[in-house]
Amino acid sequence: MKTDKIGVGIIGYGSITPFHIHSIVELDHCHLIAVQSSNAEKRATIQEKYDVQCFDTYQELISLEQIQLIIICTPSGFHLEPALLAMKAGKHVVVEKPLEISTARCEKMIEASIASKVSLTCIFQNRFASDYLKIKEAIAAGKLGKLLLGNAYIKWKRDQNYYDSSPWRGTLKGDGGAVLINQGIHTIDLLMDLMGNAKMVSGSIRTLTHNIEGEDVAVANVEFESGALGTIEGSTSLYRAFPEKIEIHGEKGSIIMEGGKITHWNTEEDGKLEIKAEKSTSGADDPMAIDNTLHKKQLREIINSIRQGKTPPVAAKKAMQSVAIIEAIYKSSRAHKKISINT
Ligand SMILES: NC(=O)c1ccc[n+]([C@@H]2O[C@H](COP(=O)([O-])OP(=O)(O)OC[C@H]3O[C@@H](n4cnc5c(N)ncnc54)[C@H](O)[C@@H]3O)[C@@H](O)[C@H]2O)c1
Repeated sequence: MKTDKIGVGIIGYGSITPFHIHSIVELDHCHLIAVQSSNAEKRATIQEKYDVQCFDTYQELISLEQIQLIIICTPSGFHLEPALLAMKAGKHVVVEKPLEISTARCEKMIEASIASKVSLTCIFQNRFASDYLKIKEAIAAGKLGKLLLGNAYIKWKRDQNYYDSSPWRGTLKGDGGAVLINQGIHTIDLLMDLMGNAKMVSGSIRTLTHNIEGEDVAVANVEFESGALGTIEGSTSLYRAFPEKIEIHGEKGSIIMEGGKITHWNTEEDGKLEIKAEKSTSGADDPMAIDNTLHKKQLREIINSIRQGKTPPVAAKKAMQSVAIIEAIYKSSRAHKKISINT
């Protein structure tokens, strides 16, 4: 083993963990050292398949000196505790989305990363999709002019079996809610990355078809700091799922992306582009209908940044913005009034 490789440990072994294991094993400049799972059968399988150390508790994994980076794949409302312990031990931390289920819990993590001088980043793999990067570039180059309107639509399908398959899904303590904080947050993160932070929201959420605590239908009006307006609509209750959609409209053009692929590009500078229909990469009706390509891209950038002593992409403060807007939508629905966002 080369000594300049970053030693990686993974906490929590569920549906998303293989995406991380495969990425770390395939990437240069890092080395998978250990995986934590409280399930003995899973530990035996991982040990045999990947020849890594396996631990029952995350405390044991964090104590390993040869680990510099820890990836946290526990349920969303259980990211904070292992993250705090890992950062206290001087490890860099990557957390699966959402960073945590409330801004208060996100802030505790951010404070710990500053105190321990380690990096803290969040997985938002869709920020690394090539079509998404084209939209970012177009906006940065001024091709859309002043941004006016941004819309995020997450019209997905999850049956009750999905929520029943893990004890935390759809619960307030484990998931923080449901469609917005779990499925919708990917598209909401992109909306805010493109449009800028939000300063005010008003929203309504309902639980209409599932036996869960969180919402399965949601709508919100958004006022961005720039003065632009926007909307968010999400559901996991629909009869048929649609690829998630994001629309960005400016005074000089509009771009629409569906299921990670640009489907409409019409700007003053480029005219209306002919877009060839491409297969989308959406998890609209199947949470596992994605592959590890984008996780691998983000993890490669994180590993490279750590090796170069730079701040990795999707730093925690940025990742908290989507938690802040979702938290404000939940508050607005409960209070029946507009809620301002201060982060
Ligand atoms: N980036 C993505 O596209 C994507 C996709 C799916 C899930 N996720 C995120 O990954 C995280 C895990 O989701 P999942 O679908 O893999 O969940 P899962 O239910 O499949 O697995 C969670 C694992 O964590 C373990 N666990 C439960 N409570 C724990 C605790 N308190 N401490 C330590 N381990 C605990 C469980 O035993 C299980 O092995 C969530 O935050 C989720 O939002 C991200």
